[in-house]
Amino acid sequence: MMRRPGLALKLSVLLMLGVVGAMVVDFSLTSGTDMDRARVLVFVSIALAMALLAAVVLDTLIIRPLVRLSAQARRMEDRGYAEPFVPTGLDEPRELGEALEHLRQRVLAEREELQRLNAELERRVEERSLALAAAQRALVEGERLVAVGRLGAGVAHEVNNPAGVILGRAGLLLDDAATPEAAEDLRVIMRQAERIREITGALLRLGRPSRGERGAVDLAAVARSAMELARHEAVARGVTLELSCQASEVDADAAALEQVAYNLIRNAVQASQEGGVVRLHVAGSTLSVSDTGSGIAPEAIPHLFEPFFTTKKLGEGTGLGLAVAHGIVRDHGGTLTAENLPERGARFVVRLG
Ligand SMILES: Nc1ncnc2c1ncn2[C@@H]1O[C@H](COP(=O)(O)OP(=O)(O)O)[C@@H](O)[C@H]1O
Ligand SMILES: [Mg+2]
Repeated sequence: MMRRPGLALKLSVLLMLGVVGAMVVDFSLTSGTDMDRARVLVFVSIALAMALLAAVVLDTLIIRPLVRLSAQARRMEDRGYAEPFVPTGLDEPRELGEALEHLRQRVLAEREELQRLNAELERRVEERSLALAAAQRALVEGERLVAVGRLGAGVAHEVNNPAGVILGRAGLLLDDAATPEAAEDLRVIMRQAERIREITGALLRLGRPSRGERGAVDLAAVARSAMELARHEAVARGVTLELSCQASEVDADAAALEQVAYNLIRNAVQASQEGGVVRLHVAGSTLSVSDTGSGIAPEAIPHLFEPFFTTKKLGEGTGLGLAVAHGIVRDHGGTLTAENLPERGARFVVRLG
């Protein structure tokens, strides 16, 4: 079929992004009156203007917001999720923007949660590894201490009797000492022999820490009586002893536990300055002794419970107090730990199993 000659207007609405629409006006300009033609032109002009307006509105309120959202979504791959989506435009792009922003926030929150869980997991693994390493060390240390303790006890057994004989004979000679000088020499011999017996006594306890009877023991009463034993030395050094306790019952060897408490209190008193305070605290099956003294020297910490480890002057310390205490507590299935306090001084804690 032949097309009628006429005006064919094709309005291509060209936007930045290409053709988004086209309008075809097909009307014969040869037929009709001038008036008709004028009307057609007016109509076409109005249609053209409206099409342009629609295109601009479409572009501003729908297409550009969508383009912005999609460009930002693509940028996220490289730049992460920090940049928020800003919803603009008509309802649809605005809703899409809001949905994307909601999604972004969820991703961020979930990522944070994942990081937190990861850190928590790492912390737990670290904690478990440390606990395992500590348990292994304690096992090796425990076995070593037992071996050293047996050896020490064997030697002590042999030395104890001769020391007793020296002490007894020196005592007899002292009664008939010819001169004051001789008497003083004999006292020195006796003091040294006493010291040998003290050391051998500690070594024997180290080798066979707990031979006594187990039974229901009031830990607070044990702490109180150990405190009384140590009071003399504390008073002489100008150190105050304090006890805070709740009545608590444990299944233990009372005499052995008293030895533990006594050794800890003595150390605390010896580490204190004049005017210092040594605090005993009993709660449940835990006994702690803290002081306001010098604190434990960092290099001493790994060796505290080793027999013969001492930082005290020759003659002042045997280095057996903590080894004995450790052995007794271990025999009770408990733990003995040491720590420096943040302010000053040290704390030793006995936890019975
Ligand atoms: N309360 C304390 N404050 C500081 N250091 C301490 C304390 N108790 C123990 N120590 C340290 O542990 C070492 C070993 O103690 P111990 O086995 O009782 O032997 P000794 O008292 O004969 O030295 C001490 O020489 C000291 O260095
Ligand atoms: Mg001691």
